[in-house]
Amino acid sequence: MSVLRSVVLGCGAYLPERVLGNAELASTVDTSDEWIVQRTGIRQRHIAAVGELTSDLAIHAARAALANAGVDAQSIDLIVLATSTPDQTFPATAVSVQAALGIHHGAAFDLQAVCTGFVYALATADSLLRAGNAKRALVIGAETFSRILDWTDRGTCVLFGDGAGALVIEAQPQKGTREDRGLLTTHLRSDGRHKTKLYVDGGPSSTGTVGHLRMEGRAVFKHAVAMITDVIDAAFKATGYTANDITWFVPHQANKRIIDDSAHKLGIAPEKVVITVDKHGNTSAASIPLALNVAVKDGRIKRGDLVLLEAMGGGFTWGSALLRW
Ligand code: ACO
Repeated sequence: MSVLRSVVLGCGAYLPERVLGNAELASTVDTSDEWIVQRTGIRQRHIAAVGELTSDLAIHAARAALANAGVDAQSIDLIVLATSTPDQTFPATAVSVQAALGIHHGAAFDLQAVCTGFVYALATADSLLRAGNAKRALVIGAETFSRILDWTDRGTCVLFGDGAGALVIEAQPQKGTREDRGLLTTHLRSDGRHKTKLYVDGGPSSTGTVGHLRMEGRAVFKHAVAMITDVIDAAFKATGYTANDITWFVPHQANKRIIDDSAHKLGIAPEKVVITVDKHGNTSAASIPLALNVAVKDGRIKRGDLVLLEAMGGGFTWGSALLRW
């Protein structure tokens, strides 16, 4: 039986030029390199320049992904952009990307699921491709979290950074087996009972302001590993694959301790885990494509590899995707 699968054609990423290291941060906030590295694994983060917008980061990442895929922007008929830090309340940041790429056809929209945004965007684009609504999509995660941080709150400002990453995916006929290339299964979850554990204290309909990120760090940590393992178990159950079959585990890059604990609980060997959080901190929806891009460019992820993605974040939201590269 022939089925349509969303196959990855290429990936790209972009980090703003300005690097803010832990030591420099410790000169303005009561923290230390040692504390941040020990609790999170983060050593530095990138900060967007004045006037550099989420769409600017997204456009760089999208262009890099198109070049890596070797396809023309005109062949893209769908852009799904995950972000919690859009340029404006509306229009969607995705349409700025679409315009900058000179695309005047198809559809472009934003999607917001905080740190799980990229998994949600990938699952959404995959559904639209498999339903025949589009043929080739740009799936982007792009954030400027530096703009919503309270730089006097050491409990949150040390954790996040700015960046963007993108994948080009295309609907291709496959055999309909778990050996197929492309997205094999996706699983999305949310539970709004946890919405006050990680949120932004502003918004157009509440305060009329942008607001700042607020978080109960311990509560997030407590739920993260259980939620991540739940949704990865669902991916294993749906495909019959196990932790041993995974070639690469590319988790949302929030915190090295959460990543290590999740991999350990799932029985995924440490050498299969792609970790880049040390280089850019938590870039929310951008973190998975940023990590994918590093592992593809350094030759770790190759065609045919079984790649497992997961994320968890504000809402709470959480999700997984299993794909053959
Ligand atoms: N530097 C130095 N000390 C700090 C800092 C800091 N940046 N931040 C907090 N502390 C202090 C606290 O004030 C507290 O001091 P006290 O004992 O004198 O009261 C002490 O360190 C311990 O604070 P906790 O918040 O209990 O520290 P914890 O070990 O839980 O680590 C952290 C905090 C890193 C935020 C942890 O809870 C965590 O990783 N949570 C997950 C959060 C996360 O990753 N969120 C990302 C978004 S969600 C997602 O993407 C999965």
